[in-house]
Amino acid sequence: MASPIVVVSTQELLDAQAHLWNLSFSHVNCMSLKCAVQLGIPDIIHKHGKPITLSELVDALSINKAKSNALSRLMRILVHSKIFDKVKISEEGEEGEAYSLTRASRLLLKDEPLSYTTFTVAMADPVMIDPFHHMSEWFHDECSTPFVTRNGMNFWEFGRNDEKWNQLFNEAMACDARFVGNMLVKECKHVFEGLKTVVDVAGGTGSVAQALIDTFSGLKCTVLDLPQVVAGLEGSENLRFVSGDMFQFIPPTDAVFLKWIMHDWSDENCVKILEKCKEAIIPSKNNGGKVIIVDMVVDGLKQEHHEATETQLFFDMTLMADFSGKERTEKEWAKLFAAAGFNNYKINPVLGLTSVIEVFP
Ligand SMILES: C[S@@+](CC[C@H](N)C(=O)[O-])C[C@H]1O[C@@H](n2cnc3c(N)ncnc32)[C@H](O)[C@@H]1O
Repeated sequence: MASPIVVVSTQELLDAQAHLWNLSFSHVNCMSLKCAVQLGIPDIIHKHGKPITLSELVDALSINKAKSNALSRLMRILVHSKIFDKVKISEEGEEGEAYSLTRASRLLLKDEPLSYTTFTVAMADPVMIDPFHHMSEWFHDECSTPFVTRNGMNFWEFGRNDEKWNQLFNEAMACDARFVGNMLVKECKHVFEGLKTVVDVAGGTGSVAQALIDTFSGLKCTVLDLPQVVAGLEGSENLRFVSGDMFQFIPPTDAVFLKWIMHDWSDENCVKILEKCKEAIIPSKNNGGKVIIVDMVVDGLKQEHHEATETQLFFDMTLMADFSGKERTEKEWAKLFAAAGFNNYKINPVLGLTSVIEVFP
């Protein structure tokens, strides 16, 4: 017989209820952020040149004035989630309050070179989120992912059939690729120094490759990706786009670069990709031959790093829902490298929640 709940105090029950409320409404942060980005609020505050009052924001947005109060409530939660700041101002002797940008919302400016705008919109898109509504159903069915349960096809087939989504997703990936490319050439120069050729496998629209060739003179980069991603993209003297399937063929190279690829795939498929990488690498380890992976290493999920841990878990669940991949611990990574015949590896934990892993033949 189930034991009664009466052993807990009223306060403990109320705490449990509050906890459930908080989780039940977790989507509100994500959706409020999406709304602010779609309204263009960060750019409006930036263009204003100083903190903006609510009435100035209403005017600049040209929204229905009857919705001013709703806008103040949207701004209130976004101040709470540290997307905007609320600051005291004094104008013509009158004390007031106004909104300003935080470091996070500066990354949501359209003209910011490292803009993350499209990423936030794409990750909140029904295409990414709907599969979660099918997760419990998926636990009973034979489909590889809740995405397949929802759509009857996998993520990449879906992108091939839906041009609008394909473009949005590719641009979302390019946001992160520009961001990481910029960091890599600053924080990880030693990883690329001495290389003459790099193949960015499943390298999207080539933003990391562009950062590499802009930094390392003489370096030649090839970006391999699916036809729906690279068709029509123009390369340059040191950058070429190749349309193909990484499970079939990777062009010969000094080093293979894989950013946000392994985490999309099962262990079995990762080993297949790594084997293809190994075949493609021409030089020995001592002459620079290697695979360079940018992905998370999720060791030591610590309670005291609650937000970072939660972010890693969010990624992991998204990979399960949409891609049949996962985030991996060092032990899991090491197993994949050994299974694909690599000798050793070095983890450089230099990109916040993400690491740069060098894997040597
Ligand atoms: C998560 S995105 C990462 C893109 C890019 N590396 C980045 O970090 O911005 C995964 C990429 O894998 C590509 N992809 C999926 N299956 C592929 C395959 N069989 N061969 C080549 N590329 C593939 C997708 O088109 C997509 O561009």
